[in-house]
Amino acid sequence: MQDHFSRRPSIIQGGKLPEGAAQECLLDDHRRRLEAFDRLREAAAECGLGTDPDRDLFVLPEDAVSLLEGSGDSWAALGRAIRDFRAALPLLSLDLFGFPVDSEDSLAEGSSLLRHIGGGVEAWAFQDREDSIYKFFRPIEGQWIGATFHYEPDENQVMQAEACPGTYRGLLEKLDVINVIGGMPTELVGVTPEGVLVVKQVLGERLAEGTDTSGLLPPALIPWPSRFLRCDRDHPRLAFVRGRPWLVADTHDRNVVRLGDGSLRIIDIVAAPIDRAVTGRHPLLHDWLERVRLDPGAPLLRAADDDEL
Ligand SMILES: Nc1ncnc2c1ncn2[C@@H]1O[C@H](COP(=O)(O)OP(=O)(O)O)[C@@H](O)[C@H]1O
Ligand SMILES: [Mg+2]
Repeated sequence: MQDHFSRRPSIIQGGKLPEGAAQECLLDDHRRRLEAFDRLREAAAECGLGTDPDRDLFVLPEDAVSLLEGSGDSWAALGRAIRDFRAALPLLSLDLFGFPVDSEDSLAEGSSLLRHIGGGVEAWAFQDREDSIYKFFRPIEGQWIGATFHYEPDENQVMQAEACPGTYRGLLEKLDVINVIGGMPTELVGVTPEGVLVVKQVLGERLAEGTDTSGLLPPALIPWPSRFLRCDRDHPRLAFVRGRPWLVADTHDRNVVRLGDGSLRIIDIVAAPIDRAVTGRHPLLHDWLERVRLDPGAPLLRAADDDEL
């Protein structure tokens, strides 16, 4: 089917879960879009353009470097990379979604086509006439968007995770993680020239306020031993996503909803990958991650290590 705002193919409509094959397509779309953005970053770096933070690259129009494309291979490659990324994530105007464009704060003024249903720190959520959910992630201080974690080591081998604003690439990855861990199917619709990322989700029903979600999270999420992690968000879990360990958290009652078939789905997380730069400073954590990757029930420490500690 078609998304009636962007007029592009869409697999999400209302509160109905897409079929398995369609969900696979969604996963594939996320992977390809990330790859296209990585190629764009590489091509931009080749041309000596700044890539960090990544907001300016993220909203480049298709013809951004058309006048330079004849001047060398690197510029021609950049032109192609921009067009490939734009094909995976189009530039769309906020007025397509019924928001006033001549306003200082279009999202706050509301839409003539969508009903505001919620908004936290990162995203404003709206519902359309077909009951699909559209979320608008607004840039933070111009360059950042969404939320991620940064890690601070402490002396006792505990990794300290603190939530902070993330990059555009980080938000693409986080939305991919929601799909991969069996959360709410989440599709990317586009990005506005102002840098607002537009995302579409299946509609779910809110949980009763105060519901304890800790026992309700999907089995792909592995509880963290407290000796390895201190985190400033609720329900920190470990997930292996496309082979990489991730810290996934913030899955409290307002970030989990129920579908018509009774299943629970995570709609929003704060998450960050745990790369070698982090685990390199935590040998015991590194060891646990390698074992739990193969066996989610692996004990905290290797049997042979227990005597020593
Ligand atoms: N798919 C959805 N189904 C039902 N309600 C939703 C959905 N997505 C968002 N909402 C509502 O909007 C609120 C804010 O959306 P959320 O994705 O959590 O953004 P934020 O990052 O701002 O917290 C949620 O707490 C929920 O009440
Ligand atoms: Mg939320």
